[in-house]
Amino acid sequence: MRHIISITDLSLEEINELIKSAQDIIANPDRYKESCRDRKLATLFYEPSTRTRLSFEAAMYELGGRVIGFSEASSSSAAKGESVADTIRTVSCFADIITIRHPKEGAPTVAANHATVPIINAGDGGHNHPTQTLADLLTIKNEKGRFEGLTIGLCGDLKFGRTVHSLITALCRYPDIRFVLISPEELKVPSYVKLPLKEGKVPYTQTTDLVRVLPELDILYMTRVQRERFFNEDDYVRLKDSYILTLEKLEYAKTDLSIMHPLPRVNEISMAIDSDPRACYFRQVMNGKYIRMALILKLLEVQA
Ligand code: NCD
Repeated sequence: MRHIISITDLSLEEINELIKSAQDIIANPDRYKESCRDRKLATLFYEPSTRTRLSFEAAMYELGGRVIGFSEASSSSAAKGESVADTIRTVSCFADIITIRHPKEGAPTVAANHATVPIINAGDGGHNHPTQTLADLLTIKNEKGRFEGLTIGLCGDLKFGRTVHSLITALCRYPDIRFVLISPEELKVPSYVKLPLKEGKVPYTQTTDLVRVLPELDILYMTRVQRERFFNEDDYVRLKDSYILTLEKLEYAKTDLSIMHPLPRVNEISMAIDSDPRACYFRQVMNGKYIRMALILKLLEVQA
């Protein structure tokens, strides 16, 4: 039985296989319609979600399976004081696979320690979000056809943004990648995330100036300032509009730049950019469903 708590729970070969599997699902959706017949996915969401939860649910339905779960802690026995461990023991009796999102870092690890079915981390606090990374990698592969040789700019809240942490961890395992980390001083990438960059000798630069580095980038991954992780609302208000990508700024960018965002967007990307072919973020959403279909098949060991 496999759990996906961190993106490092998958080898590079397995990630590449998942990407291939998702591409096959995109090309031949009918072939997978009954793959998870009589299987159940549980979605246990202790934190708000639109894309992650609904894409997991849509993924399971499109595989012919069923879905149970809750979308807020207040409607589960967590509101009565039940532990994650006891909830997971319980849900393991009902479901064949469980996804969990929780505000506390490490909650999915606790879940995995008490589960009798596979656990997937759908986001734990400001820590990790491995399935968003799978969606991001599929998007990069589909948009660029490769990982090698890319200069990838990550912009915004690199401190609390869990999608950025998992994405850096995954991408630094590919050869010939270069990162440009763009954030306010207060929201720089934590040193534990940067460690593999240093160890793997992956080149990276850090800056506060998006416009200055824009011409170098092949990919620009924008993120939201993570209001819910701030201790102080005044700090959030001061930092929230640090970066706003507009059509005027895009004049400095490569004509084949890919603009990504895990969403939700608050103010980071002007809506005028949505119709620009370089905007990938809604294709990225769609990819999230397909890669999660591939992941469910893998963890349930289903042959299509
Ligand atoms: C992200 C998350 O929840 O970490 N959203 C998502 O899953 N696509 C990013 C965010 O909330 O800013």
